[in-house]
Amino acid sequence: MKRALSGIKPTGKLTLGNYIGALKNFKKFQDEYENFVFIADLHALTLPIDPIELRNNTKDILAFYIAAGLDPNKTTIFLQSDVSAHSELNAILQNFLYMGELSRMTQFKDKARKLNENAIGMGLFAYPVLMCADILLYNADYVPVGEDQKQHVELCRDLVHRFNARYNKEVFTMPSPYIPKVGARIMSLSDPTKKMSKSDPKGDIFLKDDLNIVRKKIMSAVTDTGSDIYYDKENKPGISNLLTIYSALKGISVEEASDEFKDLHKYGEFKKIVADTVIGELKPFQEKYLEVISNKDLINNILNEGAKKARIVANKTLIKVKKTVGLYVHE
Ligand code: AQP
Repeated sequence: MKRALSGIKPTGKLTLGNYIGALKNFKKFQDEYENFVFIADLHALTLPIDPIELRNNTKDILAFYIAAGLDPNKTTIFLQSDVSAHSELNAILQNFLYMGELSRMTQFKDKARKLNENAIGMGLFAYPVLMCADILLYNADYVPVGEDQKQHVELCRDLVHRFNARYNKEVFTMPSPYIPKVGARIMSLSDPTKKMSKSDPKGDIFLKDDLNIVRKKIMSAVTDTGSDIYYDKENKPGISNLLTIYSALKGISVEEASDEFKDLHKYGEFKKIVADTVIGELKPFQEKYLEVISNKDLINNILNEGAKKARIVANKTLIKVKKTVGLYVHE
């Protein structure tokens, strides 16, 4: 059976972009593949974060996973820092990716640009190395990600070629990014030329937002001049973003959505329909979230069981890698 692996890092408040680009798709995989979903808490340390906030975000993400339909009996759900093999494989793999290629990663450049040079940690620079370890430990065939993470999965593919060629055997499985056809890059509602991002929250819809606030945010989303509703990312980025949100939640293409609204010619009416659709999706999601977040035993139980299952798979790969590179493995 093919394997899928996904994760979200517990920084900031999760947005509708995270939901549409990643979270919503995780569930699809659990019925078709052996599914591993983790909380990338080590990645969350790449930028300074308050420990209490990190712990709360971590529990939130676990509750979001369950609210989005992940079933711990079908999906191995775990915390990255609970499986020490991630850090061990990271230490080995960092010798197989190079400074030049890491410094060309768009996400690193974007994040580093906002920092003073002396505040750019090694972890931020080497983020894609740890991400390779995350993926390769589970021999994942598919990695569902939004558009912004595609480059990191491509780098991981380069590493697999390099590593397997160096040792002349298929040590690692070649992963493929799975990018959703609609909604791989949801844009900010206040500036639809910028990604909706939890670390730069402008024009974001947060998954925990009060639903009246969600409606207000959508009703006041920046749109474009004119009154026609169709998809044109260049000239109508605001309307195109709302159409994308609508299509992704309805499970239809943007062409089908454009067709639905071609005779409407009223932005206000259109926004109301988008708001109803988003609220319709978030209402049951928030209810389930509240049920899980208040159940400490359930959270601990899921994480403990998930860590046990993940360790078995990850340690097996780690031993194989150690033997391959010549580290001494005690029998
Ligand atoms: N705007 C977006 N549209 C579609 N997908 C998105 N993702 C993030 N923003 C959008 C996808 O959500 C997953 C979460 O990944 P992450 O938290 O590990 O890191 P990220 O990609 O860096 O996400 P953010 O929200 O932008 O976080 P910050 O701001 O903290 O760095 C990924 O699959 C991502 O593609």
